[in-house]
Amino acid sequence: MPRKTVVVTGANAGLGYAISRALLEQDYRVVMACRNATKAAAARSSLLESVPGADASVLPLDVSELDSVVTFAKLFEEQFGELDLLINNAGIVGLPLTRNDAGHELQMATNYLGNFALVGRMLPFFNKESPCRIVNVGSLAHRFGKLPVDDMSWTVDDYKPMKGYARSKVALLSFTQELNRRLTGTNIIALAAHPGFAATEITARNVEMQPKNAIQRWIRSKVEPLIPTPAEAARPILHAALAEDVSGGDYYGPGGFLEIAGKPAMAKLNPKTRDVEGARQLWSISQDMTGVRFLGADA
Ligand SMILES: NC(=O)c1ccc[n+]([C@@H]2O[C@H](COP(=O)([O-])OP(=O)(O)OC[C@H]3O[C@@H](n4cnc5c(N)ncnc54)[C@H](OP(=O)(O)O)[C@@H]3O)[C@@H](O)[C@H]2O)c1
Repeated sequence: MPRKTVVVTGANAGLGYAISRALLEQDYRVVMACRNATKAAAARSSLLESVPGADASVLPLDVSELDSVVTFAKLFEEQFGELDLLINNAGIVGLPLTRNDAGHELQMATNYLGNFALVGRMLPFFNKESPCRIVNVGSLAHRFGKLPVDDMSWTVDDYKPMKGYARSKVALLSFTQELNRRLTGTNIIALAAHPGFAATEITARNVEMQPKNAIQRWIRSKVEPLIPTPAEAARPILHAALAEDVSGGDYYGPGGFLEIAGKPAMAKLNPKTRDVEGARQLWSISQDMTGVRFLGADA
């Protein structure tokens, strides 16, 4: 049996690495979509060492830049051709107001708009014969955000790093619902999952989460060892990707206290992600912002 092919974005670190390793162990051919060639090559070597006989490749992708998404899809078509599973995992959190080349706020560009464009560009390559999935990685933080259809680029509201993160994940999870509706009647479903908390590089990269004094540093030193490892926290995402008993539109997370850790279970979605009219509006805005049109009368 030929191996199934999965694209994992941000596969060189944290959850993406753990997800890639688990999928290699399940005999998937893993295409690691990464923005830093050196880090990606090191991660690939380490994966191949830990899973003998595995099939892992690297393709360059900076998901926050639309040109890179277009190039990635072309390279994928030339080198791999067919796809069974796409895991939109790459993400950033809590950075000061920064914009990509197109002027889009960088958390929105990375955590949502790039994924919208990537899905649109990769859709033609999904295997037509057997069930396929698109899994988007959400976050607990989305529960505190709003659907950003009136201010996608923070030109009206005062920008706050964690508000920016929450909005980008609300957009991603609203998109997941609308994508799944638009995929009805095809062999592809779209669903999402969040990891709870995971001990990855994301905390160190988040300027908002750095301890500001000795007490905070002490608290962090006590709390850090309790945070789930990337392999533990990846379980809800792997459940969404692999389990038999899932449906399009599902949202999984850790089933323990406050969805922070634990075995995969259905997770709470912010009701704003179930606003069908808002999701349609978001889709239309996203097409205009990315120039990628798919799955609709206006495509
Ligand atoms: N860790 C948590 O507690 C937590 C909680 C909730 C949700 N999440 C979500 O889980 C996902 C993975 O996070 P993580 O904790 O594993 O973070 P991480 O350790 O910081 O890894 C993030 C990965 O995304 C990649 N990435 C960032 N921007 C990118 C871009 N523009 N193009 C391509 N790749 C890019 C990074 O590449 P480089 O190494 O080259 O920077 C890295 O491979 C994110 O979507 C995050 O929002 C994490």
